[in-house]
Amino acid sequence: MVKARKYVVKKHFEGLPKRDDFEIVEQELPPLKDGEFLFKAEWISVDPYHRAYNPRYPVPYDQFAFQVGTVEDSKDPEYPVGTRVIAHRGWSDYCIIGPGHENPNSPDNGVHKLPDLNGLSPSLCLGAVGMPGATAYFGLLELCKPKAGETLVVTGAAGAVGSLVGQIGKIKGCKVIGFAGDDEKVKWLKEIGFDKAINYKTADIAAELKEAAPEGVDMYFDNVGGEISSLIIHQMREFGRVAVCGSISAYNEAPYKMPKATILQLDLIFKQLKMEGFLITRWLERSHEAYEEIIKWINSGEIKVREHITEGFDKIYDAFVGMLNGENIGKAVVKM
Ligand SMILES: NC(=O)c1ccc[n+]([C@@H]2O[C@H](COP(=O)([O-])OP(=O)(O)OC[C@H]3O[C@@H](n4cnc5c(N)ncnc54)[C@H](OP(=O)(O)O)[C@@H]3O)[C@@H](O)[C@H]2O)c1
Repeated sequence: MVKARKYVVKKHFEGLPKRDDFEIVEQELPPLKDGEFLFKAEWISVDPYHRAYNPRYPVPYDQFAFQVGTVEDSKDPEYPVGTRVIAHRGWSDYCIIGPGHENPNSPDNGVHKLPDLNGLSPSLCLGAVGMPGATAYFGLLELCKPKAGETLVVTGAAGAVGSLVGQIGKIKGCKVIGFAGDDEKVKWLKEIGFDKAINYKTADIAAELKEAAPEGVDMYFDNVGGEISSLIIHQMREFGRVAVCGSISAYNEAPYKMPKATILQLDLIFKQLKMEGFLITRWLERSHEAYEEIIKWINSGEIKVREHITEGFDKIYDAFVGMLNGENIGKAVVKM
């Protein structure tokens, strides 16, 4: 018998999630049936959507999340013992995967074998070679359609998605300006090739952006929403493109009390801007294209990846709240 542990969300979050909103539940897993395998998680992801999706589901629910791990026991010939797998079951150390074991609240029920990582850490399948990587790749290339010489602005720039967006923008020949929440992040963004990085917590955002992009902004990859996005969109050029990826500045706000930001319609009209929201699930079938390209760019040194690693199953909550508070540079992951 295998003892498994998982995080269950007991209460809907109010503001920043509290430790008490979760309960760690232990259970003995039943013997495997035909078509099932026992999955042991080695890396677990903490992501902003774990906060954003919370109001949608009735409580209690098992916290969903991506995990990378290994098949420990198997009655599924497709997944023999030792197979490396990425799954989206949750914040759990062991689980059974097979028909009937899906997480009903999971926005992604996919289970996949890890791609050939060419020697890179499997944990990257939670970041650059996983959902955040595909988000950066398709959101930027499909919606912003960058052209060499154009100016790209990205918020949440030192995070999992933002740091890739900026580096892919550089590969495409753009001038890249990133906004992030502290000076260490600003320093790192410059090291990985951003033309300009600005601490949005201390800067005069409009003035510094004007100085960095006097001719205006062609593309804005929006990870945060709110007033900073209104200030950036106000400085866009004619026919600029805005990819609305995330709105983390509002995730801890109550759904009935969303913050207000400066009106955008005048800029959208007079500059004939195109602004489009997206979910990465739109390009699910094409994820492999992003992964193959990103692996090549990491191996060639054109993309640098960084992870913010927290250790231990008991620390998943701390890693999650730390990420929401901006403690991470690069992808926030938990090592089991
Ligand atoms: N549309 C999609 O399909 C899709 C897929 C993946 C991710 N996303 C979205 O993309 C965004 C980035 O996700 P990620 O996984 O790469 O996370 P991340 O950037 O690695 O981590 C979250 C970061 O958000 C920033 N943040 C927290 N509160 C903020 C606030 N009030 N204002 C501005 N920034 C704040 C913090 O950085 P600072 O220190 O810089 O504040 C923190 O490090 C999120 O909004 C997420 O929901 C969307």
